[in-house]
Amino acid sequence: MKRFCPKASFLLFVTLILIGFVYSEAKNCRPSGAIRGKKAPPGQCNQENDSDCCVRGKMYTTYKCSPSVSPHTKAYLTLNSFQKGGDGGGPSECDKRYHSDDTPVVALSTGWFNHRSRCLNNITISANGRSVVALVVDECDSTKGCDDEHDYQPPCPNNIVDASKAVWKALNVPKEQWGGLDITWSDA
Ligand SMILES: *[C@@H]1O[C@H](CO)[C@@H](O)[C@H](O)[C@H]1NC(C)=O
Ligand SMILES: *[C@@H]1O[C@H](CO)[C@@H](O)[C@H](O)[C@H]1NC(C)=O
Repeated sequence: MKRFCPKASFLLFVTLILIGFVYSEAKNCRPSGAIRGKKAPPGQCNQENDSDCCVRGKMYTTYKCSPSVSPHTKAYLTLNSFQKGGDGGGPSECDKRYHSDDTPVVALSTGWFNHRSRCLNNITISANGRSVVALVVDECDSTKGCDDEHDYQPPCPNNIVDASKAVWKALNVPKEQWGGLDITWSDA
């Protein structure tokens, strides 16, 4: 009969805890910091299309990571214009171009944008019983915000797929509801 060995079972216990810890670290994405909101100077932060403007003194959490990607990654879909003069600001990060509201393009939160690794790759977005393929053209910056470069808008949350009108249309979302929707996405 084997004797119960306290030392070995303690080591096994510690190992299991460590494995669990590493695993949850990979799954959970913790904040990287926070920035204090500054009020936009007059004429900055155009709120015409419900853009969110930083509030002076409010703290905004920043992230360098996003939740891990799976075949059904949960995300929050937002609306953006990648056209010239649209609320997306300058041309897209991936190709330095503007994109018509009629083409399905998206920006991803910093962690999912992953140092441009998804630039000009397609993702499949599913919601509402439908799915649409969209091209990744930009980053939704989760690490910075509330400054001139970001039109005094807060940093992006870490779970955002920021999509052109064409994506909303293809998902058959009623126009009154455009702007915020729970979706899943995967690499196409
Ligand atoms: C707001 O949306 C309208 C209609 O899509 C667009 O023409 C206009 O350029 C947008 N304004 C800003 C500031 O993005
Ligand atoms: C992305 O999808 C579009 C539409 O399905 C397709 O025309 C295009 O070739 C795809 N691009 C890549 C890089 O897969």
